[in-house]
Amino acid sequence: MASDPLTLDPAPSLRRLTLLRPPFRWSAATAAFQIEGARSADGRGRSIWDDFVDTPGAVKDGSTAEPGPDSWRRSAEDVALLDRLGVDRYRFSVSWTRVQPGGRGGANRAALDTYSRLVDELLGAGVTPFPTLYHWDLPSELETEGGWLQRETAFRFADFAALVIEALGDRVRHWYTINEPVSTTLQGYAIGELAPARQLLFDALPTVHHQLLAHGLAQQIVRDADAGQVGIVNNHTHVSAATASPEDQAAAAAYDALHNHLFADPLFFGEYPDLGALGIPEQPVHDGDLALISEPSDFYGVNFYNPTVVGAALPEAPIPFSLQPVPGADVTGFGWPIVPAALTEVLLGLRSRYGDALPPVIVGENGASFSEPSRSAGRIEDTERIAYLAAHIEAIADANERGADVREYTVWSLLDNFEWAEGFSQRFGLVHVDHETSQRTPKASYEWYRALIEEARA
Ligand code: BGC
Repeated sequence: MASDPLTLDPAPSLRRLTLLRPPFRWSAATAAFQIEGARSADGRGRSIWDDFVDTPGAVKDGSTAEPGPDSWRRSAEDVALLDRLGVDRYRFSVSWTRVQPGGRGGANRAALDTYSRLVDELLGAGVTPFPTLYHWDLPSELETEGGWLQRETAFRFADFAALVIEALGDRVRHWYTINEPVSTTLQGYAIGELAPARQLLFDALPTVHHQLLAHGLAQQIVRDADAGQVGIVNNHTHVSAATASPEDQAAAAAYDALHNHLFADPLFFGEYPDLGALGIPEQPVHDGDLALISEPSDFYGVNFYNPTVVGAALPEAPIPFSLQPVPGADVTGFGWPIVPAALTEVLLGLRSRYGDALPPVIVGENGASFSEPSRSAGRIEDTERIAYLAAHIEAIADANERGADVREYTVWSLLDNFEWAEGFSQRFGLVHVDHETSQRTPKASYEWYRALIEEARA
């Protein structure tokens, strides 16, 4: 788990950049609810995140995602930033409740037209549009009916996906289906840190299968429509035991199974890991589901932020493990441990566990928040972010040198944006955003990433 100490070098030349020459691709990401603002514009319906932000005390700084970057109205500014940055691709998400305000029925044309214009602007700037169909904004109506606990939600999602693919699939040729089902399951339904803020513990686990089924259905729609490349994006963490004691080892194995294997085994092995020993019931699988879920994808998206150290359960705790600090690691503004070598281990671990069943990997998100002012008089010299990004890009090069097949790197995030339950208190952007005026100011990390991309292509 130990990593090399970070070297703080704002110059673009990375040790291993030669391993990341074209066709290796560079990207930046955002998500609809985090950047769009304009909650009531153009017939948009309510999502579980509207319900979350409207719950007093739920968001740390009391903010509501408004206006934030206001990208619903200012996407041309985002495209100009992407153009100058020189990224190959832009990962953004399509808001379900803009397209289907109540979660079902016909499409809201105004919303699809706006996304269609964004796609055209991106293509005009030479940036490949790479939308995510679901980045956490479930329509409130569907949550009222049980949300991802209900099998039916997967089919509602497929209907929504079909509308988007039909409208944009002539120009959009790359699709992420679902973002980080693990976060929705564990943080959204099990412990309630994220929307829909339910605290069901292990009763949350049917949401795993229903999200993976939703992925399988949407992937099939992309295939049937001949709409290009498609895959899911999961969050992975490197898990290690706090000590060599059998209790800590067993707890770490349980957490690894829950966070990592539960979400990836069905994609690549066509079956769920057996978690019966943890008291976790079987997934609600119907005939044919696993065949659909394990249909090969064109790529596998891996989001990585930090490793996890796990110890035995605390006395009286309702879960069979405890999450512990990573000894000696520097931390981000969020308090997340910075251990780039853990990304190398995650990538090699996926390779060794899934072998040839694993398609080429895209790092779909990676980045760090640090304490930065809400208003900016000039350029923010975010050398810590540069060091974080540089070290993680090196970690990918290391993994590729040792047999991984990573084809793309995506920075989270292009913009400072609404960081879910943390509101505007955590900033991940390459570009500073004043969340009151929506003014965008590139940080030093933006210029660094721009120069890095240029050098990688030279
Ligand atoms: C999510 C992003 C989020 C980021 C930082 C990822 O898990 O996909 O929406 O902003 O982490 O917390």
